[in-house]
Amino acid sequence: MIQRKRISLIGAGNIGGTLAHMIALKGLGDIILFDINKGAAHGKALDILESSPIDRFSINIIGTNDYKDIQGSDAVIITAGMARKPGMSRDDLLKTNALVMQNVAENIKQYSSDAFVIVVTNPLDAMVSVVHKYSGLPTNKVVGMAGVLDSARFRYFLANALDVSVEDVHAFVLGGHGDTMVPLVHYTSIAGIPLTHMINTGLITQKTVDEIIKRTRNGGKEIVDLLQSGSAYYSPASSAVCMLESYLCNKRRILPCAAYLDGEYGVKGLFIGVPAIIGKNGIEKILEIKMNNDEQQMFNQSVDAVLKLTQKT
Ligand code: NAI
Ligand code: 2OP
Repeated sequence: MIQRKRISLIGAGNIGGTLAHMIALKGLGDIILFDINKGAAHGKALDILESSPIDRFSINIIGTNDYKDIQGSDAVIITAGMARKPGMSRDDLLKTNALVMQNVAENIKQYSSDAFVIVVTNPLDAMVSVVHKYSGLPTNKVVGMAGVLDSARFRYFLANALDVSVEDVHAFVLGGHGDTMVPLVHYTSIAGIPLTHMINTGLITQKTVDEIIKRTRNGGKEIVDLLQSGSAYYSPASSAVCMLESYLCNKRRILPCAAYLDGEYGVKGLFIGVPAIIGKNGIEKILEIKMNNDEQQMFNQSVDAVLKLTQKT
């Protein structure tokens, strides 16, 4: 009998619940939905299972507040902790969520030390470091989700401005998940046509592109301000599932994610957003790309900001 994959979701809040639903609809594996709030984990697990006859998925979901249930997971996605509230920066979350990450990581070490772990909790890059430190997992098995989301926002805004399909817009964002993220204009293309060419030929103005970059950097805050309670969860869940699928199905997709740098980009010993291949061994390779002077300067600033935050944990 082929065993179904075991996917543990630590945190059954807005992102955790959405993740469980998406993973169920895609039939990626059995789900263990963990939360310290037992009601949320059990309630969401049962609610999603009750949709299975309609959406026809045959996987199992359990809600739990006992870490023993995550035993032997193939993958773990961590969304536990606090989300941003209006007026609150990602960095304000640092201390509270670092303690939560330590506890989660120690339990992963005890029960699921072979898992591929995707961290979503903010402040993202610093939280990945904490999970790596306390889980004892190798660096290829711990990664943070942010770049897929930030790039998706950038791609969506560009597609909208150009009035073309989002499917044809390719772009990625480097650096930390925060105000210092680095959207790379000269690696952005629309159906293979460089964005810089489109700027030069007047299809879009530099001013519009600059506004889009600013809006991308503020993408998280824009949703927080609109929701007034909690932060984005549909697009963060989609982003994490895209990384999960690349791992479970050995797709070897190149995705921007907070991966461990061991000298790449001139940085050693830090998790930060870079393009990486995700396959059956987790992070299989970090791709180093050339940046122009402005981009390099922005990336350096981002590295400094992530380093400062990581050192505070
Ligand atoms: P949420 O507040 O809806 O859910 C968080 C859940 O964590 C709650 O159900 C809570 O009971 C649980 N929790 C708290 N402490 C726990 C612990 N010690 N152990 C287990 N569970 C615990 O938050 P949401 O919207 O799901 O966001 C989760 C995190 O993801 C936040 O830190 C948020 O800032 C972050 N985020 C990150 C993004 C990224 O791009 N990396 C994008 C959007 C949000
Ligand atoms: C976001 O980018 C708040 O980090 C979260 O939506």
